[in-house]
Amino acid sequence: MGKPPRPSRPTAFFTLSFSYTVHAKRHAQPHPASHRIPRLHQPHDPDRPLSDATIEALVDLATRAPSAFNLQNWKFIAVRSPEAKARLQALAYGQKKVADASVTFIICGTLAAHEQLGQALAPSAQAGIMAQSVVDGWVAQATRAHAGNLQLQRDETMRSASLAAMTLMLAAQGMGLATGAMIGLDLEGLSRAFGLTEREIPVIVVTVGYPLPGNWPQKPRKPVHEVVEFA
Ligand SMILES: Cc1cc2nc3c(=O)[nH]c(=O)nc-3n(C[C@H](O)[C@H](O)[C@H](O)COP(=O)(O)O)c2cc1C
Repeated sequence: MGKPPRPSRPTAFFTLSFSYTVHAKRHAQPHPASHRIPRLHQPHDPDRPLSDATIEALVDLATRAPSAFNLQNWKFIAVRSPEAKARLQALAYGQKKVADASVTFIICGTLAAHEQLGQALAPSAQAGIMAQSVVDGWVAQATRAHAGNLQLQRDETMRSASLAAMTLMLAAQGMGLATGAMIGLDLEGLSRAFGLTEREIPVIVVTVGYPLPGNWPQKPRKPVHEVVEFA
């Protein structure tokens, strides 16, 4: 496997709803089937950093994920300095991929997101996508459902951050990068070490880096007939 192309900010494709797919077609290393998608199970090239602009482009694409009421109840911590990587590796029970990856994202969900929903939806009203009365209705509905309901708030952090994580992984793979999801970490220690507030829940960690030869491809999945049910 040769070196994949250097990822570039896919600005030209941002108007497309699945811009990472378009980006993948133009920039990805050819992999004939989905099982060739490189995953980060072997050490990645530790000497190839990603620029802050590329990291921001990945987060921009990740935030195209849907969330209930468009709450956007997420936060991304891009761990890419040697010092921060070392801090995270210690909390990941020494897993080396955290140090080798160009960047590791701590993807958090945020509690009490209904409190900022009006603000989160303001651009939709400004763009004329939603009438202000509809925005107000959604804020009232979300507040009724979420205020005082910590279980629902937590469930929603898991859904939103997981969807954002998968979207980020697809975006990175579209740039020819390999990715790995992780949850084998001391999450309480991580919250302290990275200054998360009580409202910020670390949901999942995603490593992103350049694949090296020998990297595991995606593993086979159960046959579809075992997991699908038509109703
Ligand atoms: C929630 C979650 C937690 C995971 N935690 C770890 C982990 O701590 N360390 C690790 O090496 N892989 C971890 N993985 C990776 C899984 O082992 C991997 O997704 C699974 O084996 C399928 O691999 P594939 O998609 O590369 O074929 C995790 C994946 C998920 C979705």
